Amino acid sequence: MIEVADLKKIYLLGNVEVAALRGVSLSIQKGEFVGIMGPSGSGKSTLLHQLGLLDTPSGGHILIDSTDVSQLDDDARTWFRLMHLGYVFQDYALVSELTVMENVAIPAIMQGKPLAECYAAATRMLEKVGLGKRLDHLVFELSGGEQQRVSIARALVNTPSIVFADEPCANLDTENSRTVLELFRDVNRELKQTIVMVSHEPWHQSYFDRIIFIRDGVMDEERIESEGKPGGPPGNETG
Ligand SMILES: Nc1ncnc2c1ncn2[C@@H]1O[C@H](COP(=O)(O)OP(=O)(O)OP(=O)(O)O)[C@@H](O)[C@H]1O
Ligand SMILES: [Mg+2]
Repeated sequence: MIEVADLKKIYLLGNVEVAALRGVSLSIQKGEFVGIMGPSGSGKSTLLHQLGLLDTPSGGHILIDSTDVSQLDDDARTWFRLMHLGYVFQDYALVSELTVMENVAIPAIMQGKPLAECYAAATRMLEKVGLGKRLDHLVFELSGGEQQRVSIARALVNTPSIVFADEPCANLDTENSRTVLELFRDVNRELKQTIVMVSHEPWHQSYFDRIIFIRDGVMDEERIESEGKPGGPPGNETG
């Protein structure tokens, strides 16, 4: 379970303060598939960075399974992230010199597991995302949709209890987007992994258990519970 209390993030640009998060409080239950939505610049990525322990908040607290992760030092935070969290970046953030399998194995290798076990886990995960035949390819040989699936396999390889994904479908067409959303839904249901995903596409809402709307660095209370769940992707109105 994730509990966030009065979370603040202020960026300093020269001597100008940009308040990207202005006191966000929320909780996310174990096994929820939560969407984070809101206008551009509202603080969605900033929120995900703080929750994913990629950045340090300016104020407030983040508790993950009762550990106050906002109080951990750098080493403890890195270790916590490695053991419990997966993160899918919008721009994939893959290592271009490594093969598909090596990219996915990295988080397992960093946990100190035997190499054979790491590659076996990477292979299993790549098969799950439909890339079992591309293990030895370099990432630049793959399409954008395939690269995003590699980055998802990497985020999932250690079966983290929480997966964060920042607009994982932003560069994908409808078909690839649907593949990604269905993959998240499957692991969410099968493995009870908590998934927190930023999106700006209304049709993605039908996949989420709940949506947290952000506006100007705070939760948009007026939109909580007020949104319906639109149907499938564009061009699939009858489904
Ligand atoms: N590293 C940074 N330094 C200074 N300001 C930043 C930094 N990162 C984000 N901001 C500012 O914080 C605010 C929130 O940015 P954020 O990236 O979280 O928005 P977002 O909701 O993810 O937007 P988008 O939908 O366009 O991705 C914006 O005003 C942005 O300019
Ligand atoms: Mg963003």
